[in-house]
Amino acid sequence: MKVSPTGAAAWTSSKPPLLRFLNACHADFAAETGGAVADYIPELGKADPAHFGISLATLDGHVYEVGDTQIPFTIQSMSKPFVFALALDTLGAARVESAIGVEPSGDPFNSIRLNAENHPFNAMVNAGAIACTGLIHETKGDGAFEYIRQALGRFAGRDLDVDDAVYASESATGDRNRAIGYLLRTNAVIKDNVTSVLEAYFRQCAVLVTARDIAVMAATLANRGVNPVTGEQVMTPYAISRTLSVMTSSGMYDYAGEWIYRVGIPAKSGVGGGILAALPARLGLGSYSPKLDKHGNSVRGIKVCEALSSHYNLHML
Ligand code: DON
Repeated sequence: MKVSPTGAAAWTSSKPPLLRFLNACHADFAAETGGAVADYIPELGKADPAHFGISLATLDGHVYEVGDTQIPFTIQSMSKPFVFALALDTLGAARVESAIGVEPSGDPFNSIRLNAENHPFNAMVNAGAIACTGLIHETKGDGAFEYIRQALGRFAGRDLDVDDAVYASESATGDRNRAIGYLLRTNAVIKDNVTSVLEAYFRQCAVLVTARDIAVMAATLANRGVNPVTGEQVMTPYAISRTLSVMTSSGMYDYAGEWIYRVGIPAKSGVGGGILAALPARLGLGSYSPKLDKHGNSVRGIKVCEALSSHYNLHML
């Protein structure tokens, strides 16, 4: 994809080339009007569709930011890879693998369909993510959400809050996810009380992040689990490599094949409007723009990732 070389006139050649490139992306794709703000969680429908932020973190801890990178929005499904990594490190790979598959489903994120063993296809779709939160709940009980929130904060390098209104809105309307929860419990994938697991999952999805946070979180994935800003080893390299593997095959749901073909960078989207992309040993990208395509992926965020991949030849294959 071609991006105009100059971008906004205010940006002079004294700025670093990468920042000028991100600024050009921002200027060009701000004109993109396609997509719609998610409203199946009613509170998400209040998002400002004009908001647009792009942030890129390098593995030496430098963070580039353009546009609305400090606006908080809910992490939603971008929490899934981090909670999967947390489950791997907390319960061990054997326990996690006994409950959740690693195959792409080819289905939308909220599909109720399970695999041939009646387990979730992978940890990136809702069924797998709910199962993951259920696994954490098995060991942490009522402390599950707080354990997750603190882990997410270590990836971001700061303490993260929760959007109580979005949490309450999803809890009030999330019967499809509850149905998935009961299906998982009847198949012994979830062993605890379904309501408790779902409340922890809804809270996890309502954790507030910015595009900058997402870039740092993605860079931590790209950096084998070491947060490049704080220097903390947040997760084991093993958990991170398995997480990136599942992001590669399933992070973008029923667009995952197209994504890895066109962009070639492991990524995860969220219905709050975020996309995180983590290129191992290179960089982390976070974008925020709330208008989504029919797969639930941010329209402008996809454009940014396509442009970044093609401009810097970042396709990993
Ligand atoms: O469970 C849900 O439906 C939401 N809390 C998260 C879904 C989501 O972010 C899908 N991503 N693009």
